[in-house]
Amino acid sequence: MEFDEVIRSRRTVRVFRDEPIDEETLRLVFEAGNQAPSACNVQGWRFRRLDADDKELLVRMGGADFIARAPFACLVLYPFSSDTYDDEVQSAAACIENMFLKATDLGLGGTWVCHLPASWRLRRALVIPWHYKIIACIVLGYPRQERRPMARKYDVDQLFELERPRLSLRAVAKYLYMRQPFRPLFIERRFTKRFEN
Ligand SMILES: Cc1cc2nc3c(=O)[nH]c(=O)nc-3n(C[C@H](O)[C@H](O)[C@H](O)COP(=O)(O)O)c2cc1C
Repeated sequence: MEFDEVIRSRRTVRVFRDEPIDEETLRLVFEAGNQAPSACNVQGWRFRRLDADDKELLVRMGGADFIARAPFACLVLYPFSSDTYDDEVQSAAACIENMFLKATDLGLGGTWVCHLPASWRLRRALVIPWHYKIIACIVLGYPRQERRPMARKYDVDQLFELERPRLSLRAVAKYLYMRQPFRPLFIERRFTKRFEN
């Protein structure tokens, strides 16, 4: 695929064909991730592959339900940084986006998932070493349907205009709720967005 076509056709995919991804193909995706820039060239992204039991567990604990149906899923980890600009998140995000672009180029699709259980619970359940921040979960597979382009909300000129904050009671409640360590699932589901695709 042409570079521009890859960028434009990358879309979030949550429903997959029942077809595994071979290891060679996965390797190409991870090689693309590994080429990403990173703060101080740390290249600290690490992955924890999730097997079927891990995926079920993650969903039972409150993670997005499509994770269990994805042919491939892993957590993205990055060593905690002492910087105040969330270096570790930014570096890991660069890696993740490279991976999704490569996945698109290879005919795969997937989702960048942050709808996950509280990180301390996930860390304990999956035995993630304390010095790694859990950044996200990524799932990959062959899309069941073709995804349509998604219109941009703003054109490029508008991107240079700053907006007023858009505060709603719900947003404030969600902000406060998500920052406390004990999150009962029945409340969490009220804040969960449902996607059809
Ligand atoms: C940081 C981040 C977190 C996301 N978390 C979730 C998630 O938890 N669940 C989900 O279904 N999609 C998640 N997404 C995917 C977005 O919903 C998706 O990118 C957005 O709707 C735009 O669609 P597109 O990727 O097809 O352009 C996430 C994306 C990003 C960048």
